[in-house]
Amino acid sequence: MLAPNHRATIDATLPVVAAHATAITGRFYERMLGAHPELRNLFNQGNQASGEQKQALAGAVYAYAQHCDTPDAIEPLLNRIAHKHASLGISADMYTIVGRHLMAAIGEILGDAVTAEIAEAWDTVYWRFAGELIAREAVLYRDAGITPASFLREYEVVERVAEGDVAVSLRLRPTDDAPPPAFKPGQYVSVQVELPEIGLRQLRQYSLSDAADGRTLRITVKREAGDDARPDGLVSTNLARHADVGSRWLVSNPFGDLALDTGASTPVVMVSAGVGVTPLHAMRRHLARHQPQRRGVFVHVAAHGGRHILKREQAAVPHIDDLIVYDAARGEDRLGSDHHHAGRFALAEHAATIVRPDADYYLCGPLPFMIAQRDALLGQGVPAKRVHFEVFGPDLLTATL
Ligand SMILES: Cc1cc2nc3c(=O)[nH]c(=O)nc-3n(C[C@H](O)[C@H](O)[C@H](O)COP(=O)(O)OP(=O)(O)OC[C@H]3O[C@@H](n4cnc5c(N)ncnc54)[C@H](O)[C@@H]3O)c2cc1C
Ligand code: HEM
Repeated sequence: MLAPNHRATIDATLPVVAAHATAITGRFYERMLGAHPELRNLFNQGNQASGEQKQALAGAVYAYAQHCDTPDAIEPLLNRIAHKHASLGISADMYTIVGRHLMAAIGEILGDAVTAEIAEAWDTVYWRFAGELIAREAVLYRDAGITPASFLREYEVVERVAEGDVAVSLRLRPTDDAPPPAFKPGQYVSVQVELPEIGLRQLRQYSLSDAADGRTLRITVKREAGDDARPDGLVSTNLARHADVGSRWLVSNPFGDLALDTGASTPVVMVSAGVGVTPLHAMRRHLARHQPQRRGVFVHVAAHGGRHILKREQAAVPHIDDLIVYDAARGEDRLGSDHHHAGRFALAEHAATIVRPDADYYLCGPLPFMIAQRDALLGQGVPAKRVHFEVFGPDLLTATL
């Protein structure tokens, strides 16, 4: 529990901190990355540019300050961040750097309004948050048998398969010939790419897109091509260009809190859109291979057959009901075989197929898609604790739920 004087100060200052939250976290990143340019390798430059990173940090700090005395409320947030940090090799000593620059940014943005008492209360909240993350991350590293200094391992691409018009699947084998780590369907790895043209390395997360086979890991990467308004995605286009069979890449241990409970036998409902299919496809493959009696529903929304990622592996699985939706079907797409519904997807219209008693629901796709499906499920009487989701970017959802 926060001490009563700290709780009172936090409650009194939450509105003003919230009103300036992204200004504070924006200034924080400027300060910290200016003083420690080496940390630019760690932070996603695209998320810096879009402002999503500062929003995610501000949302998390706000949610933690509000709810830190209610462990159940804050648990999903802590788990999400700890898994992401572990996939990036974040170490305990880095929290001192972040804390120093975050507190200095609060001081700069709020000025004289920050009395010694207010600074002490927010510093206490920061270090409680940091302590909880450091402890969780230490357990994740220990369980994986790694340290932050050894979080990356070299893998070689042993298979490369095009997935429709825009994606590619890469099967990776450790070059030390020891087996890859175990993982749960739904988890992801970080892949590091050298970008000499901008003088940086960058890490990105990719969900494992196949069930474990004890020898390899597979990822499926959608190429984020740019246009007049946006540059090419740094890592996905680099992998699309250079990740040929025989090429070598540094890859993290699998982490991620959206994972299928492989010990359970309850029904699994998987609802995805676009490249969000990858973690749910791994779950589907796991069910087919290891839990063939477990019932499931697999809903996937793609624009059309050319954008239907992993379509070639969509073969019927005995106890899984498929609902494939193309919302911009082409003439050559066959209704009834490669998709079951053409046009806009509205979950409520398919509730009889999708909603199952005792099921767990896994969502992955663009944020507005997941919010719509989550609301529709809650509207069908599904308990919120049964709805799980993965966000392919800084999570702007958990802190707001
Ligand atoms: C847990 C998790 C799992 C994921 N799983 C997968 C997966 O299985 N498959 C997959 O393909 N992806 C997955 N992702 C997404 C992946 O990590 C990358 O975010 C994605 O590949 C894009 O990275 P990039 O480096 O190519 O693009 P970035 O360089 O990060 O750019 C991202 C977007 O921002 C735009 N942008 C960048 N800079 C600017 C700027 N200055 N102004 C305007 N726009 C800009 C780019 O045009 C691009 O559209 C996952 C993400 C997470 C967090
Ligand atoms: C209490 C302290 C911290 C908090 C509250 C915090 C919070 C967060 C949050 C909310 C995210 C987004 C998670 C997501 O993807 O949904 C994140 C990602 C990240 N954090 Fe932290 N963090 C803290 C400390 C640190 C430290 C010490 C470092 C190391 C310098 C660090 C580096 C990163 C990086 C590199 C990312 C990924 C950014 C991206 O991909 O856009 N964080 N953190």
